[in-house]
Amino acid sequence: MSLGVVILAAGQGTRMKSALPKVLHPLGDRPLLRHVIDKALALDADKVAVVYGHGGEGVIDAIDEPRVAWVLQVQQLGTGHAVIQAMDAMAGMDHVMVLYGDVPLTAVATLRELSDLADTGALALLTVELEDATGYGRIVRDAEGNVTRIVEHKDADAEERRIREVNTGIMVAEGARLAAWTARLSNENAQGEYYLTDVISMAADDGVTIRTAQPQNLWDVAGINDRAQLAQLERVYQQREADRLMRAGVTIRDPARFDLRGTVRAGRDVTLDVNVIIEGEVTLGDGVHVGANTVLRNCALGANTRVLENCVVEDAAIGGDVCIGPFARIRPGTRLSDGVRVGNFVELKNAQVGAGSKINHLSYVGDTSLGERVNVGAGTITCNYDGANKHRTVVGDDAFIGSNSALVAPVEIGAGATIGAGSTITRDAPSGQLTLGRPKQLTIPGWKRPVKVKREE
Ligand code: UD1
Ligand code: CA
Repeated sequence: MSLGVVILAAGQGTRMKSALPKVLHPLGDRPLLRHVIDKALALDADKVAVVYGHGGEGVIDAIDEPRVAWVLQVQQLGTGHAVIQAMDAMAGMDHVMVLYGDVPLTAVATLRELSDLADTGALALLTVELEDATGYGRIVRDAEGNVTRIVEHKDADAEERRIREVNTGIMVAEGARLAAWTARLSNENAQGEYYLTDVISMAADDGVTIRTAQPQNLWDVAGINDRAQLAQLERVYQQREADRLMRAGVTIRDPARFDLRGTVRAGRDVTLDVNVIIEGEVTLGDGVHVGANTVLRNCALGANTRVLENCVVEDAAIGGDVCIGPFARIRPGTRLSDGVRVGNFVELKNAQVGAGSKINHLSYVGDTSLGERVNVGAGTITCNYDGANKHRTVVGDDAFIGSNSALVAPVEIGAGATIGAGSTITRDAPSGQLTLGRPKQLTIPGWKRPVKVKREE
């Protein structure tokens, strides 16, 4: 049977107090709406339609997902009205599931269970029991326990308000019937809105059984209305991601101080110390260790590589047995071969470094190819920018660059060359020889320090 999914995402989210539409606020660095769309796609839905409104086309652009149909709801006249807008897009669907764009953490298994319930011919409703049900639509059951209708909080009488079973908003109904029921909705109620929840009594009147399912836990159905709830769900999301990684064999020293804002593939026995942030797509080989307060963004680290405390590694490919940091910055375009050492206060940009080379202290190496086993002394700077253009520095295998050297690009240092400390190198340095570019040391014999002149009072 075919399944269509309608995601309601037109609301403004006033309580976010934001210029950004609520459904575009990020959770784990993905917009809330993206999470919900991904759930629908994971369900293998035959059609997915998103009802948008606040934020307009900007929402479509931000999500950029060709597999969904976008349906505009110009005025937000209620959840029922929102679903009506999507019914054309759902034409031909045996079943239609309704999801909310601001409820990001629902388990796909729960949604599948609900859709299986609908396959029995019932209208399937996801409900939860709440200690405090204030604000929610209440599930009204008859003496036999059959659901007969949903009454919204604002329309409920005192007795109905004592009901603790509430509507999560997530439901699955027969497509053709949902179209017919929603067409008959009225807005004569406390809020003057077209309530989707009114279809429940219509279904009951038509003799359709209403069956309910419950989520595994409350976070599955938690919606986001303000930034405090957003932060709360972020922690839930992060804890789940950390649990998943730990079950897959990653040691996370404190899962409460770990953030995954993208995807990570990790080998065996990877260790992440506290406050590691992983962004974009990151791959960690077996035995990788990442020190405290380090950010890894779109990079791959080979087996047994160690990135020590307080480093930033971005858009870089790092080999195995490499050691980086503490306090190093690896910028885009950098490739480090196996066994490279990069120490503290070193910045690398678009640098390709051969196996076994060392840049251990206080250096800037940019737009540079370094061969293998090169030693770059403390304080070495590649001067890659002439104020207008960037130029490359090329250093051959086994070269030794003395401390505090400036290599003014474009320049090439031959294999096995030695550059004397403190040199400013503006021309190519030949292989295997010592090149110095600094004034000769001078001693002036007999020179005397000035003495202080004594003035008479
Ligand atoms: C709704 C349910 C209530 C349920 C609660 C769970 C109705 C009438 N009530 O109430 O039974 O307990 O959710 O959270 O359905 N939206 C649109 N267009 C609209 C109106 C809403 O796209 O015209 C979207 C909102 O952006 C939001 C979702 O639908 O994502 C729910 O709307 P909201 O106003 O939050 O519904 P509640 O009043 O909370
Ligand atoms: Ca709500």
